[in-house]
Amino acid sequence: MDVDTALTTTRSVRRKLDLDRPVEDGVLIECLRIAMQAPIAGNRQDAIRWLVVRDPELKARVAEPVREVAEAAQREYGHLVAPRSLASARFLKDNLHRVPALVLVCVAGQPEGGNAELTGFYGSIYPAIWSFQLALRARGLGSTITGYHLFGHEEEVARTLGIPEGYTQVALLPVAYTTQQEFRPAARPPVEEITYLDRWGSRVS
Ligand SMILES: Cc1cc2nc3c(=O)[nH]c(=O)nc-3n(C[C@H](O)[C@H](O)[C@H](O)COP(=O)(O)O)c2cc1C
Repeated sequence: MDVDTALTTTRSVRRKLDLDRPVEDGVLIECLRIAMQAPIAGNRQDAIRWLVVRDPELKARVAEPVREVAEAAQREYGHLVAPRSLASARFLKDNLHRVPALVLVCVAGQPEGGNAELTGFYGSIYPAIWSFQLALRARGLGSTITGYHLFGHEEEVARTLGIPEGYTQVALLPVAYTTQQEFRPAARPPVEEITYLDRWGSRVS
């Protein structure tokens, strides 16, 4: 797969996750090794931890708060979401415990300070998360960034998985092989309308 295809067809995969096909440790490690080549601010490389959850009982315990938060969010905001996306989100919340691997991304420290500090904190992990997703896609696997459990259940998940104090959980990614290989680019605003030249508001073309 060429780079542009990977970049434009790596979608958030939920319903097309293959819940029955095992995911080998080797492919995860390979993708995480690639992910760690992403840009990381300053000396933050050592702050990143990837926690791969495979144990069925632990997955079920992590999936529980995710389901709770997702159900509440879908009750409140479901009407604002396209039916296809809502069905996809519902599938994930109902089947999270069945996904072969849940990858929890953690960073040492707490997000604090102003724009510059927060950019360094989250900006040091999100390029790696995206690289991880791209590397998975190139090998026939898919994933979705989720943050549901961070709404009020981060400590509970930390206790379940033995995450030490001082680590912030950034995202939980269900990872599986995908049941199809064809994915299309997403609808996005025309880039000419959101790109300016020299002065805010002046169009590039
Ligand atoms: C920071 C961040 C948090 C996200 N949290 C969730 C989430 O909690 N649940 C979920 O299903 N998708 C989540 N997503 C995925 C987006 O909802 C997803 O990108 C969106 O469905 C659009 O899909 P597309 O990128 O394939 O167009 C998150 C994405 C990002 C970047």
